[in-house]
Amino acid sequence: MTVSAETWLPLGPLEDMEEGERREVTLPTGKIILLIRAEEKIHAVCADCPHQDTPLAEGSVEGTILTCPLHFWQWDIRTGEEVGLAELPLEIFELRHDNGEWFVRA
Ligand code: FES
Repeated sequence: MTVSAETWLPLGPLEDMEEGERREVTLPTGKIILLIRAEEKIHAVCADCPHQDTPLAEGSVEGTILTCPLHFWQWDIRTGEEVGLAELPLEIFELRHDNGEWFVRA
């Protein structure tokens, strides 16, 4: 299967995600994203830290701020913008909810 870099990919219903939950998803493209439910919304970000590829699923989330567990870089998961020590932005992905199913643009 060939998937373009800008395709809406199905993620399923995601109704079971609870507040604060993080879930890694491997897309058909091979890219791994991290879904995070925070402040009653689902967000999609790159699963690996842009600093040294540490899995961000092992980090912590407070409000909409995600903290990498290794060197504590932080980002706002709504925008991917750096907070505090972070020197690089975090890639984020657009989500769409349609007919009970979620899709990610990746
Ligand atoms: S590996 Fe994430 S901040 Fe260094």
